[in-house]
Amino acid sequence: ELGGFPDYMSKEIHEQPAALRATLKDRLALDGTVSLDLAGQGLDLRGVERIVIAACGTAYHAGLVGKSVIERLARVPVEVAVASEYRYSEPVGDGKTLVIAVSQSGETIDTLAAVEAARGFGGRVLAVTNTRGSLITREADAVLLTHAGPEVAVASTKAFTTQVAVMQMFALELARVRGTLPEERLLELGRSLRLVPEKVEETLAALEGEYAERLAEAVEVFEDARCALFLGRGEAFPIALEGSLKMKEISYVPAEGYPAGEMKHGPIALVDERCPVVAVLGEGVVREKTLSNVDQTSARGANVICVARSDDADAKRLSRVVLPVPEAGGLIAPIVDSVPLQLLAYGVATSRGLNVDKPRNLAKSVTVE
Ligand code: M6R
Repeated sequence: ELGGFPDYMSKEIHEQPAALRATLKDRLALDGTVSLDLAGQGLDLRGVERIVIAACGTAYHAGLVGKSVIERLARVPVEVAVASEYRYSEPVGDGKTLVIAVSQSGETIDTLAAVEAARGFGGRVLAVTNTRGSLITREADAVLLTHAGPEVAVASTKAFTTQVAVMQMFALELARVRGTLPEERLLELGRSLRLVPEKVEETLAALEGEYAERLAEAVEVFEDARCALFLGRGEAFPIALEGSLKMKEISYVPAEGYPAGEMKHGPIALVDERCPVVAVLGEGVVREKTLSNVDQTSARGANVICVARSDDADAKRLSRVVLPVPEAGGLIAPIVDSVPLQLLAYGVATSRGLNVDKPRNLAKSVTVE
């Protein structure tokens, strides 16, 4: 059943290339054209003026990536709400509000209640879920399935990366409908997404082959960590949040995910040699800004672990360990950047002899309030 892997989490991390291929299949053509058939399901995107993404935990982090990519490409305002808060917030909206409920299981009680709240103000509902026929699909106007296959480990991995891929395809589709970007640019971005499965494969192969010692060193940094800071900006910020959730969840190291630029407003006080800083550099303008924040932590004695493109000389200079990800571009970065953080949390948890598949106090899906 585990196909030679020691546990489900490791199996599911390695299933990501296949899960991503299955999720992109029949939706993303060779030339980069996206077709999600939402109109065919009765969901017309033309009237959408505002989007709310409601979700919990890891799915909430996928929603944050979604917000960033939807706003950037399709220029529609997006709010991301923790479903347990949203349901009691007397949410504002109307028939032009699209609520996207993201849930691996499709059975999370708070996410279902968020959908009901949206129904209350006449909003349209799109469900992004991994579970065909789940409760959430029955409440939605339209459904986009992630084809991650069953996810057994409590800590979500392949469900997360496939959720991000679906949010990215949705952003491309919405941008096309709204005409916010030239067709050629959209196709180019679509083609970049087609490369994601092989880039994830490359990332896994490098971190378990050529760069295995670096991963081992990063795990070692955590040996006597009392806490950790996970930093990022832009689309790298939700990836840092997700990395910190993985770390808390399976290795029980208190880990804070923070926007790198916000660190100086408080959390930098945590930094010392027993509070490692894990920085996701990302790409574009945010990379440089994050680097300067990282510099401020290494100056205060932090052991810095950077997730960076393999040839990033600045990252090498500023950090104790660089966990390399391949040169990406287009829409690839958030998904490949997630992989080293999954392996890091996994490595720290297993080095402590913990049960990664069934961490204490947690259930795979939270179906009661
Ligand atoms: O099934 P859902 O996606 O609705 O579950 C939401 C969260 O409970 C879930 O993502 C949780 O945070 C995971 N254990 C994270 O690894």
